[in-house]
This record gives sequence, C-alpha cells and structure tokens, in this order.
Amino acid sequence: MGVTAEQSGQELPLPLIEEAVRRLRSGEVVAFPTETVYGLGADALNAQAVREVFALKRRPTEHPLIVHCVDGQAARRWASEFPPAAGLLAARFWPGPLTLVVPAALDLPRAVTGGQDSVGLRVPAHPVARQLLKAFGGPLAAPSANRFGQVSPTSSQHVRDEFPEAGFLILNGGPCEVGIESTIVACLHGAVTLLRPGIITPEDIFGCLGLFPLHSTAAGPRVSGSLESHYAPRARVELAPADQLERHLAATKSGAKTLLLLAQKPDHPLPPLVEFRAIPDDPRELARVLYSLLREGDERGFDRLLFVQPANEGVGLAVGDRLRRASGGRNG
Ligand code: TXA
Ligand code: MG
Repeated sequence: MGVTAEQSGQELPLPLIEEAVRRLRSGEVVAFPTETVYGLGADALNAQAVREVFALKRRPTEHPLIVHCVDGQAARRWASEFPPAAGLLAARFWPGPLTLVVPAALDLPRAVTGGQDSVGLRVPAHPVARQLLKAFGGPLAAPSANRFGQVSPTSSQHVRDEFPEAGFLILNGGPCEVGIESTIVACLHGAVTLLRPGIITPEDIFGCLGLFPLHSTAAGPRVSGSLESHYAPRARVELAPADQLERHLAATKSGAKTLLLLAQKPDHPLPPLVEFRAIPDDPRELARVLYSLLREGDERGFDRLLFVQPANEGVGLAVGDRLRRASGGRNG
C-alpha cells in the first residue's frame, strides 16, 4: 500500500500522485496526509465515492464531510455565498488548519454535506495534499481517516492500523505537524461561530476579525466531533485539575494499570501500577503528539490514562477539548 516513510513536508514522486488521481477519478478512496491529521479522500462530486467513505468509516450519513480545495478561489466555487468574515479568515489562514462553514453551492452533492445547505471548506497546507489536489483538479471530500468515534490518525501507519483489511492507497507524507483536527469556524447568518477549537485559536481569530467567535451551542449545525464521546481510545482517559492530581492518583483503583502523562514527574512517590510518561509542556507541542500518546496507551495495555487539564486558553482550549471528548465526559 503506502510508500516507505517520507519526511514530513516533502512532495511525493509524481507516478504515485498520478496513481492516486487515477483511483480518485474512478471513484475509489485514497488516504492522504494533511498538516492536521490524515484524511480519507474521495471525489466530492461523485456521490457514490462519497458514500464509500461513509461506509468505510461506518459514519452516519447525516454527518457532513469537509471539502478540501487547492486554493481559496477553488474553495469559493463550492460556496453559494462567501461572507466577508470568511473572506478575511481565508485570506489570513489558508492554506492552513482552518475549516470555514459557509452556505453551500447548489450543485454540490448533498451526500457530502450530510443533507445540509452549508459546507465545510478547507485549503490544506501539507505539500502532499496540495500536490494531490492540484493534480486531481477538483474538490476532495475527506474526513479524518479513522473509524467513526476513534482517534484521528497522524501517521500513515495509524491509517493502516485503523483499516487493516481495506485495499485503498495510503499516501505517506510523514507524521502530521499539527496533530489535531482543523479549527472549524461557521460564517452563517451573519454570525462567526467556533464549532471546533484547533491550533488556530479564538485569539488568532480576534487578531484577524477584531471579534471573538461565538461558541457553538447544541442548536448549531451538526458537527460529529461535537458528540460527547469522540476521539476515544479504549483506555479510560481521566482529566485532573492541576491542584487535584494527588487526589486522582490516590484514587487509583487496585489493578488499574495507569499511565500518568505529565510534563514533569511529581516529586512524591507514585502508587503501585502507575507509570510516569513525560509529555510536552507547551500545548502546541502536546497537540502534535496527543493522538500517538492515546494510541500508545492502548497498545501498551493501560486501563487508564491520567492527564492534567490544560489551561482553557490558546491551543490549550483545543487540547482540553480533545482530552475531554476522549474521556467521554469523565473528568474533574
Ligand atoms: O483537520 C481536519 O479537519 C481533518 C483533515 C483530514 O482535513 N478532517 C476532519 O474531518 O477532521 P472529520 O470529518 O473527521 O471532521 C469534520 C467535522 C465534522 O465534525 C463535521 O460534522 C464538521 O466537520 N462539518 C463538516 N461540514 C460541516 C457543516 N456544513 N456544518 C457543520 N459542521 C460541519
Ligand atoms: Mg474525524
């Protein structure tokens, strides 16, 4: 399937891209790297190919897919309206880890939008994604390349592990730089709303628009990542407020093999069955390795992964969001 490990951020040999394009044109799916996570791509204008993506992921068909485009101009083609706020955000952050939800063009198949009249548009920055989009010459619908409700893949190996039996091509673009999914901002009905936090932060959006985005409510558009338990590993993820770590550690159930993921090893002794794993202090660095850490916890057979809640600001907002979803609400 994929090719031998490539360095993150490098283009792939042309014949491989041509093979990917040939498959996409014949309605097959192809997994490809983006700077955030790996995507499971299909021709966005081929409803049958899009249905295949939903089937592979076992994702309910009313959950919309993001449409990936080579540049801002190509993206606008799939919007019936591109509000001024979307224009400013696109100019500032594309190509990059930002998805804009705007009114969908009438001729965009509703299989992609989950039947909604809005569409999530994204112009990825990863050189392989750009190479593929350019060679394909059209929009690619792509969710994260994982089964519904599982942790997003940040390497081609993760994609292979997620779909061991699937025969689709996996383009290997190395480990993803960002490590968590794109920030999603809806520009609809005159409002700017943050649907999913990411490494483009509310502060970054303020810097661009001079206003903070609203936070999404249950009444907003459907976002599958907004389900309570999502991005969940098998191990139980627990989030401790910084000042309550000792209490959480003391409450370690007998027999529960626990991995404590912290920037610095506590200076008090750890209870039996608790192993310490050093993780980056900086939330941006933590985001990059977060999903590998969750997978590692499962692979090494831990029952419980214990993290300290990151501060609810900047990139910490996105890391905390993913950890809370991975915990299925068990925290505090
Ligand atoms: O970083 C990313 O965004 C990755 C890479 C592959 O681009 N993609 C990704 O796709 O995370 P997915 O399908 O796993 O998550 C996309 C989220 C879903 O929660 C979906 O509901 C939401 O985007 N979404 C897409 N279109 C939408 C729309 N029209 N309205 C509201 N939410 C939308
Ligand atoms: Mg996903």
